[in-house]
Amino acid sequence: MNAKHGQTTLSRKTAYSYAQIALGTLNNLKSPERESSTGLPSLIIRDAHIWTKNATTRGSILVERGRIQKIARRIIERADEEILARRLLVLPGLIDGHVHLRDMKLSYKEDFTTGTTAAAAGGFTSVIDMPNSLPPTDSAERLVERTKRASGKILVNVGFHAAALDDYDKVRAMKAAGAFSMKLYLPSPIAPLDVNDDKVVVRVLSAAKRTPLLLTVHAEDRTKLPRTREIETFAELVRLRRGNAETSAVRRILRLQRRIGCRVHFCHVSLRSTLSAISSRPSSCLSSEVTPHHTLLSEDHVRRLGWKAWMVPPLRSPKDTRQLFRAMKMGIPTIMATDHAPHTIKEKARPPRKSSPGIPGLETALPLMLTMVNKGRLSLGRLVSLLSTNPAKLFDLRSKGILENGADGDLVLVDLKKRGRIDPEKFFSKAHYSPFEGWKTEGAVHTTVVNGLIVYREGEILGKPGDGKVLKSGGHG
Ligand code: DOR
Ligand code: ZN
Ligand code: ZN
Repeated sequence: MNAKHGQTTLSRKTAYSYAQIALGTLNNLKSPERESSTGLPSLIIRDAHIWTKNATTRGSILVERGRIQKIARRIIERADEEILARRLLVLPGLIDGHVHLRDMKLSYKEDFTTGTTAAAAGGFTSVIDMPNSLPPTDSAERLVERTKRASGKILVNVGFHAAALDDYDKVRAMKAAGAFSMKLYLPSPIAPLDVNDDKVVVRVLSAAKRTPLLLTVHAEDRTKLPRTREIETFAELVRLRRGNAETSAVRRILRLQRRIGCRVHFCHVSLRSTLSAISSRPSSCLSSEVTPHHTLLSEDHVRRLGWKAWMVPPLRSPKDTRQLFRAMKMGIPTIMATDHAPHTIKEKARPPRKSSPGIPGLETALPLMLTMVNKGRLSLGRLVSLLSTNPAKLFDLRSKGILENGADGDLVLVDLKKRGRIDPEKFFSKAHYSPFEGWKTEGAVHTTVVNGLIVYREGEILGKPGDGKVLKSGGHG
């Protein structure tokens, strides 16, 4: 990792020219320790376009002790670090509710440091990790162990989902340990459960209701997935893993949820019809998620790219993709998440049946979506609600997802006009491939600020492991 752990520290009394700051030449100054005896350094972002609630305004932001202290047209104070952001747009830091950070026995795929470095480079200031790790996050003890391992290794804030269980006491213990949800992985459950049995699923839903704890669902019905046989191409594999596995699983969970009434979040919905089934039920307990890949790519890409475009649920027809994008543009899904799921190239470049599904997504999501904004295909407001405001609400991160006084100092500065090209070689993730390789982008992450600390700026990692905090549900961000 080409991370740079030294961080610019200026004393409040030292006056540096804005030109120096804008040019980034302050980077070259000697900077022994970022944290002074007085605590965290203060930061002022000057003269930026700031996204506040529903529109952009021009102004400056003061972040002190890790929180936004002031947003004003002009700020006369000086800070330890200053960024002249005249051409930049400041958004609340992005929140990715669905990532696989791996680590532990899967560190060869990704670890807490590389995964959160990728997040920082992608403008994500908080991410929530999925429990299909090794060992899996399937008990309060395992959650505590994973939490301990993460703290001190992370550059952005990290929370954890846990595996779905049907035992109320164990579910309650996982919630007490800080779990943001329990994840029901219907194709093959993380903790052993007979998920094809409605009675078992009802027990899971009841435990979620009683605790209460959000239930996140990977909705694909195992009985509808293709049986093992020789499959020659990824295109064939994708066609056989049909959408009806998703529609039938979503219908089933919706039917059971109606009886129990717990909160259910449907992960990576890949079809417009499924989204409609979820959103047509007027229940504040239901939410849904789309990914950049399902809204931008289709089977056509699988035909061309093979394993690079293999994930589950798989990519659908070009028509399905267009319909899903349109639904997203209208605000039908609750959130967008990347489902960042890194594997080694060796694990992926195998015959279709043996290839590991999943792609890295943290470093491509924002540039791709900003490109859509620049093309007039998506409003900036929708982007912010899908990637920041709504995930903050869904996961009850109360002082995140918004730029206002008192909110956490989690921000992303974007250069809306900067052009680039997706280059997986440059990813900070360990997974150096992407179905978006070579895509031209307009709009890039300029700087990422986590808890008031600059962790990423223009291609460089300035943060260090430990700058991110472990998030616990109910800890209110
Ligand atoms: O493509 C996927 N990869 N989908 C999943 O549900 C799991 C994930 C992974 O962990 O690799
Ligand atoms: Zn999944
Ligand atoms: Zn996933």
